[in-house]
Amino acid sequence: MPTNEIKSKIEAGRAVLVGVDAGDMRDGECEISLEELRRLLDTAGGEVVATMVQSRQTPDVRTYIGSGKLIELAELCENNDIDLAVFDCELTPSQIRNIEDELDGVRVIDRSMLILDIFALHATTAEGKLQVELAQLKYTAPRLIGKGTQLSRLGGGIGTRGPGESKLESDRRHIKRRVIALEDELAELAVQRKTKRAARDRSGIQKIAIVGYTNAGKSTLLNRLTDAGILAEDKLFATLDPTTRKFSLPSGDDVLLTDTVGFIRRLPHHLIKAFSSTLDEAVCADILMIIVDASDPEYPAQLEVTENLLAELGAGDKPSLIVYNKCDREASNVPAPTTEHGETRKSVCISALTGQGIDELSQAMEELVRAGKKKIKYLIPNSEAGAVSTLYSLAAVDEVDYGAEYITAYATVDARVRGMMVRYEAQDGSNPPLPKKEEW
Ligand code: GTP
Repeated sequence: MPTNEIKSKIEAGRAVLVGVDAGDMRDGECEISLEELRRLLDTAGGEVVATMVQSRQTPDVRTYIGSGKLIELAELCENNDIDLAVFDCELTPSQIRNIEDELDGVRVIDRSMLILDIFALHATTAEGKLQVELAQLKYTAPRLIGKGTQLSRLGGGIGTRGPGESKLESDRRHIKRRVIALEDELAELAVQRKTKRAARDRSGIQKIAIVGYTNAGKSTLLNRLTDAGILAEDKLFATLDPTTRKFSLPSGDDVLLTDTVGFIRRLPHHLIKAFSSTLDEAVCADILMIIVDASDPEYPAQLEVTENLLAELGAGDKPSLIVYNKCDREASNVPAPTTEHGETRKSVCISALTGQGIDELSQAMEELVRAGKKKIKYLIPNSEAGAVSTLYSLAAVDEVDYGAEYITAYATVDARVRGMMVRYEAQDGSNPPLPKKEEW
């Protein structure tokens, strides 16, 4: 579908946002989440005409909101010429059907469908597009299946972008086949990505991933540090596909910086899984730079969401640096440094926009990179002299002595190289047993 065609259809969308203020929410949480939903819809090109909130302990199993509220919603849609209702939750396929039955001709989508829609708009690489299509087939398609006539009538728009109308109209078997084909294609791309990553790893350059809540300023920071020329916009999820650039630390050492997809509260598990290869950039990095929009009063909650998601991805224990961004704004509010496990958590205040604090940030990155390195004594059997060349290519080698049986080498290595070379590490100065030769 040509882009301009998609755009014109979205712009026509008049929407109502629907939230439930449930018993387990903290004060104001429902409103904050709805405000985020409004920004998501704005990013997708829709127009919010009304917002509706119901206070109830638990959502209704059949229709999410109660039956009285649903009648109210139907009237609201009719009186305001609304053609889209966006629910701030995850709806089941049957909930969508039941709600649509009550709202005459109004499309019903949920938060995940909207996020996927934005991903569909912003994916640029082949892998990104495949990931979005797969996620939509798995999540959106079951929610729209059987509604072929309605889909044709509405002619696409928010919640239906990506796989394309004709695919969504086709039967479950077709979807299943396409899912398998996409999974195969993505698996192949994942292997290629792994090979590329392994090549980068062999270069011995440390990798720093820029992670953080959506709109925190990740792309602006990568642009500021490396002239990456990535699109940085006041939109949520402007960046979907990761970009990697080289950056020289004050010492002259290079690191690789990667901008990753933003995080957001209530990002469902299946979406995290669907974008695992994109998020792998964060998981496989040596160091994480966690960017926080310090001018957003909600930043502590956003930082918590980011850290929880990182922990879920298995990257919670990586050395990290908190970067409080947008400090040029008057509203910015940076906390005093916190102490964790007896150590002060490293943080810096910057403005990626004006360049304020960037030197301090480079210095902090340098310290983290250096902290990850250690001087190690290695005893390498003469029969495996190739390991010395590996050390030379991946680390700073200080001294090498060639003995009758072993080569003794002293090198300053980072954690990753240390892991690779661990079997050659000298134990208490004594010779280790001859290790078995392995592939390098
Ligand atoms: P996603 O792609 O949505 O995850 O966003 P991101 O984290 O990459 O944020 P991005 O760099 O696109 O910036 C979002 C908005 O914040 C843009 O309008 C930027 O101009 C603005 N911004 C980024 N850094 C700063 C800053 O230091 N100060 C101010 N005032 N604005 C900033």
